[in-house]
Amino acid sequence: MGMKAVVLSIVAALAASSSVGSETIKLPAPDGDSGVTVTQALKARHSERAFADKELSPELLSGVLWAANGFNRPDKRTNATGLNKQEISVYAIMKSGAYRYDAKGNALVKVCDEDLRPAVAGHQSFAATAPVSLLIAADVSDSIYTGARSSLSNYDAGIVSGNIYLYCAANGLATVCRRSMDNDALKKALNLPDTTMLHLNHPIGYPSGGKGTTVGASSAKAERNREAMRLFEKCINTNDLELGRKLISDKAAFDTPVSPTPLYGAEGYLSVVTLMRKSFPDVQWKLVDMVAEEKTVAVQWECSGTFNGDEPFAGLQPNGRRFSTTVMNFYTFDDDGKIFKDVAATGIAGILKGIGAIK
Ligand SMILES: Cc1cc2nc3c(=O)[nH]c(=O)nc-3n(C[C@H](O)[C@H](O)[C@H](O)COP(=O)(O)O)c2cc1C
Repeated sequence: MGMKAVVLSIVAALAASSSVGSETIKLPAPDGDSGVTVTQALKARHSERAFADKELSPELLSGVLWAANGFNRPDKRTNATGLNKQEISVYAIMKSGAYRYDAKGNALVKVCDEDLRPAVAGHQSFAATAPVSLLIAADVSDSIYTGARSSLSNYDAGIVSGNIYLYCAANGLATVCRRSMDNDALKKALNLPDTTMLHLNHPIGYPSGGKGTTVGASSAKAERNREAMRLFEKCINTNDLELGRKLISDKAAFDTPVSPTPLYGAEGYLSVVTLMRKSFPDVQWKLVDMVAEEKTVAVQWECSGTFNGDEPFAGLQPNGRRFSTTVMNFYTFDDDGKIFKDVAATGIAGILKGIGAIK
């Protein structure tokens, strides 16, 4: 054996002898705010059982672990526990092995080299296709977990599951809460004592986008945009600049009849409302219908008003006549959930303008 081979065999022997548990994965800071409100996440929450063949990003993995069982105060957690026992542990079961979540250290500590996802899946093979399953375990060695309190940790596990569901809904991840799993195999592989109960597991991954699935983040973001449009309806009907600033990006450029160059932000947009009100003091936009997606919302408006204001409109003097017309707009939203582009359907007016019949 040459010198090089000797060195290699020593390295290999050392690697093989390194004990399980010595491998710690330091997690990045939990992923920041997804911009989705709790209400939107609640509307988007659902069980999903098909996962894309893609590893979870470390930020999202860190985020969902923190949501499940992390610390949000120096000594207390995102999840409530009966009598503040904090008896819940979360394990991340992945292809590369099984890891215990060290919430204080924001790390994953390896406890098993095996891929235990099939044991988590049990008879439901779909669960093994998720890149990670979170296993919710409870240490019930404390004597309080007897008699009337014997099921206390079951409730605590349910709260952790709720946190996972909401985090996934807000971040576009697919997940499902599961009671079924191969308990005995998991306890053996994880070297857990009888006083540890395995309550629930959550396969988690990006949605496969396949049949019957909805994409969580899109549905949550679509819901956010839908809500923004409802507020936008209020904003244009009340000419509320403060509300407008919350809904419209400062960078949004709008082509308006009041200026040859685009006007920007809420001020620019609402200058059209101000202009309309001078000729049609009672002008209103009713949101009739909308189709909302993650980035774009299409709205059908019913716009109506009475031409009895002080200012002429399109060269005509106010004549007291009332109009009601359908208007269509496409709004594009930026990452902060603000409108930054608005394309309006000009319809017949576009033709008339094009041929010089109207200005
Ligand atoms: C305690 C509990 C245990 C569950 N166990 C399983 C399970 O073993 N397998 C599974 O596919 N779904 C399981 N589910 C998911 C439910 O079937 C699911 O929540 C239900 O069908 C409602 O659908 P939704 O979550 O989309 O509202 C479980 C849910 C809970 C709360």
